[in-house]
Amino acid sequence: MKHLLDIEQLTQEMVRELINKALSIKNNQEPIPQKAGELVTLFYENSTRTRMSFSLAATRMGMTVMNLDNRFSSEQKGESIDDTLLTLAAMGFEYFVIRHSTEGMPAALAAKYGTNIHILNAGDGKRGHPSQALIDFMTISEFKPDFTKIKIAIVGDILHSRVANSLMQLSELMNVGELVFVAPKPCWPEANSFGRVTSSLKEGIGDADVIILLRIQHERMQKPNHFDIEDYYNQYMLTNKNLAYAKKDVIVMHPGPINRGIEIANDVADGAHSKILKQVENSVFMRIAILSSLKQSA
Ligand code: CP
Repeated sequence: MKHLLDIEQLTQEMVRELINKALSIKNNQEPIPQKAGELVTLFYENSTRTRMSFSLAATRMGMTVMNLDNRFSSEQKGESIDDTLLTLAAMGFEYFVIRHSTEGMPAALAAKYGTNIHILNAGDGKRGHPSQALIDFMTISEFKPDFTKIKIAIVGDILHSRVANSLMQLSELMNVGELVFVAPKPCWPEANSFGRVTSSLKEGIGDADVIILLRIQHERMQKPNHFDIEDYYNQYMLTNKNLAYAKKDVIVMHPGPINRGIEIANDVADGAHSKILKQVENSVFMRIAILSSLKQSA
């Protein structure tokens, strides 16, 4: 592939190849592929995991990695993101990892300027976060390899979550057995092409094989003060007590950052079912697999 812009561009075969490649590198069955080129991270929203793991992945592949800190870039002097990208491309940067609050921004830049450069969507508004969804399915595959036989429950602020959207698309592509979104009504998705929605935590996570928690995204809420956070954690926080509704060998995941005491209790975050740090570990291997799959032709 030329760019990674969204899950919709992928086939089942491409996803399996990426997961197999990432696992093979992780398990030392093949060396880390080496790649020439300069990569720059351009983040217009905060990040710890995505920016650092793309940077570490590229560094391990032998690429040159730089970050443009938008707080100190010439965009503060009126330069547009288009001109910033063209300026960096003129210097010789070929790989652009971009996070932006505007939905479709990485795809729009790829459509305009993507002939000689590669663009990786690191999250666009509440629309998509494809590399995170791929990491999550890589992690699920280590514990529950047959996606067609599992029930996944995604619990939290579905409406404002780009991860939830990409996970829904990937669940549909990979024929996941059952997908359930669990949230209070103000956090229900606007539309879901796959899966069903419930307000009941007990019913939604009942017999689940995988529970993926999401944080409440106050920064994307139109009226954040109208959301009752106390009500939320009383009804939806995953604790060891309500985890008992799920299957005995359920795995608990979270793309991060986690808010302890709101969507996840300490006993779950640090407990035996939690695979949250496994997701973080896997993020570097999946991002190596993604970078190594980028080719000049589509
Ligand atoms: N999962 C994720 O996107 O985390 P960051 O915001 O820390 O990159």
